[in-house]
Amino acid sequence: MNRDPRLIVALDFPDRVMAEGLARELNPDSCAVKVGFELFVAAGPRLVESLQASGFRVFLDLKFHDIPNTVAGACRAAAGLGVWMMNVHASGGLEMMLRARDAVRESHPDTRLIAVTVLTSTDAETLRGIGIDRTPGEQVSRLAELAVTRAGLDGLVCSALEAAILRRELGDTPWLVTPGIRPRKGASDDQKRVTTPSEAFRAGASHIVVGRPITQASDPAAAVAAILEEIET
Ligand code: C5P
Repeated sequence: MNRDPRLIVALDFPDRVMAEGLARELNPDSCAVKVGFELFVAAGPRLVESLQASGFRVFLDLKFHDIPNTVAGACRAAAGLGVWMMNVHASGGLEMMLRARDAVRESHPDTRLIAVTVLTSTDAETLRGIGIDRTPGEQVSRLAELAVTRAGLDGLVCSALEAAILRRELGDTPWLVTPGIRPRKGASDDQKRVTTPSEAFRAGASHIVVGRPITQASDPAAAVAAILEEIET
């Protein structure tokens, strides 16, 4: 198996049948898959196990954010499934992230734990509304430093725009996983600021997350191949 697929396909489906149907069209040597809230609530850990049994690396995108003890327990359970990567919200704070990191290391040391800083749906007004008088960019940098430098997490979920800045601030090591990607040809759906796969890697992304351009394509395998070719060239 490819040890480090750089393309992650977001399996944003409401049920197991649809998710497994799409996965059957994909080659686990070419891409990893992302399981988010909707699918995990509907299909549960058994789906994660079945995707892994088919050879896929799974990014479990559940963005945990709770008291440190609760998040540690959730991380232990999630890493115990053997997932490739999972995440928490950096805004849960340093202690929460340290406990999460330790729980993952104890449960399954190979699992990568990354953090969400500021959701791309959050703007300056949203931040002001929750009492944070900083720009989203400033808040991203602050939470990124907390997550990577101080808590020792493996990386961050971020937009490609942020990736360029975070690479400069954090260096080469952390994984920067970027959604909001659209291949050169195609619709942008509801994503407002979109980046092509090659632009995202040039900006410093280590991995890209792509959903609908692959999951809604008439030929998902061809859509994956086109993206991989764009990355290579
Ligand atoms: O279909 P699309 O390529 O827009 O899917 C992108 C995936 O990345 C979705 O699963 C979405 O929830 C996720 N995501 C995002 N923007 C973020 C964080 C996650 O689009 N800032």
